[in-house]
Amino acid sequence: MADTNPKRSEERINPQTLLSTDVSFQTNTIYCGDCADVLKRRFPEESVDLIYLDPPFFSNQQYEVLWGDGYELRAFKDRWEGGIQNYIAWMEPKLYECARVLKSTGSLYLHCDWHASHYLKSKMDKILGDDHLINDIVWKRTSAHTGEGKITSFGTIHDDILFFTKSDKYTFNPQYSAYDKRYIKDFYRNKDSNGRLWTSSDLMAAGVRHGESGKPWHGIDPAERGNHWKFTVTRLDELAKEGRIYFPLKSGGVPRYKRYLDEMPGILLQDIWMDIPPVSAHSAERLGYPTQKPEALLERIINTSSNPTDIVLDPFCGCGTATAVAHKLGRRWVGIDISPTACKLIAKRMHSISGQVIEVFDLPRTLPEVKKLEHFEFQNWVLDMLNGRRNPKLTGDFGVDGYLMDGTPVQVKQMEDVGRVPIDEFETALQRKGKDKGMFVAFSFGSGAVEEVGRAKNEQNLEIILRKVEDIINER
Ligand SMILES: C[S@@+](CC[C@H](N)C(=O)[O-])C[C@H]1O[C@@H](n2cnc3c(N)ncnc32)[C@H](O)[C@@H]1O
Repeated sequence: MADTNPKRSEERINPQTLLSTDVSFQTNTIYCGDCADVLKRRFPEESVDLIYLDPPFFSNQQYEVLWGDGYELRAFKDRWEGGIQNYIAWMEPKLYECARVLKSTGSLYLHCDWHASHYLKSKMDKILGDDHLINDIVWKRTSAHTGEGKITSFGTIHDDILFFTKSDKYTFNPQYSAYDKRYIKDFYRNKDSNGRLWTSSDLMAAGVRHGESGKPWHGIDPAERGNHWKFTVTRLDELAKEGRIYFPLKSGGVPRYKRYLDEMPGILLQDIWMDIPPVSAHSAERLGYPTQKPEALLERIINTSSNPTDIVLDPFCGCGTATAVAHKLGRRWVGIDISPTACKLIAKRMHSISGQVIEVFDLPRTLPEVKKLEHFEFQNWVLDMLNGRRNPKLTGDFGVDGYLMDGTPVQVKQMEDVGRVPIDEFETALQRKGKDKGMFVAFSFGSGAVEEVGRAKNEQNLEIILRKVEDIINER
């Protein structure tokens, strides 16, 4: 396999020395923003060892936003209205940037599903060159569907995890899964007096040899069978002393090697992973994020394709499963997510694991940045800036999006030139809640809004504070 990247950086990234210049990144940190953009601005070429990408799937048909301290989720907006080609075009710059920042010895795992996997494979072939796909791993992510109505297809119960490397020099630590009970029962039928289970295997291999491994041993001449011993006879004597040889009782029986179950690594892992269940409703690791991946899945990937102190990057880090596992396994890590709310919650998760204060870089701060936020993200951002709290009700908040610390209701509108009607509706919401004070936040207010605030004060003794987003930013 050819190494397609001409520029090799021999030096390892030292996160401390890279701190706080314009084209640098810090490990054990979260960056907020579009991952292609963050990678382009901050990450040098060939700077990370392992990338796990779990982008929103084409099939999800929705954009997800974590909301509130309870890790609830709000979903909205069909991002892929233009069809699969729009999705692939959206993914392309992100994949390109990931390939650029991956070290020449690095690995990339792209988590996707059958809707997009073939397009993504072909896109990655274009980016990395042919022959860089090592495995198309099938992860059984859910149990069988029962099916409803007329059944017209097989149940789709797996995700694809495409495993690429940048060159043929990459870390691969083989993984093993436990033997199943049936296999142990069938093959490890023998037990020593100390309780150790064992099976036996051939001590001979095909072909006559004339050296030490061809000599007769314990009355058995391997040459008579066209074979030789797998060990020299001196070594066979040692093994016999160590109790590693089984001598059959029947005369002429060929001795065999004793293989103990507790010395076997397990079954070498293949490319179909059926043994990692999804994060269930009752799972201890569940954070309430529907696309949250199980830690066991990330443990497998990170253990296979990285070593302690390597840098693991998750450019779509969601609720931070990959970063959490990377930390627990002694790797350095970097997480990127476009959602400021997600980033803050990941920081909290990582803090609880590491005991360290985790910095979130690039949170939106300027008016143009804040204007670009998705609706719920915008509400979250405003309430964070006001040190307020979200309305715990997910829907039907009846005009109140959150509360200030002293309990004052807050309404947030991602609008310019708010007029009389929204203020009037907010008055109704305040009255319904028995409140005589509220705060209304927007980009700007028209004269109708200002007049309505005056009228509410005079006629209903309601105090409504109009706050412009720009003022909130400036005060900070
Ligand atoms: C499928 S979820 C990841 C779930 C994650 N693997 C976990 O276990 O929690 C996808 C994440 O990608 C984020 N996202 C969407 N577009 C993004 C972009 N352009 N750049 C970075 N993150 C993005 C979303 O906010 C969401 O949190």
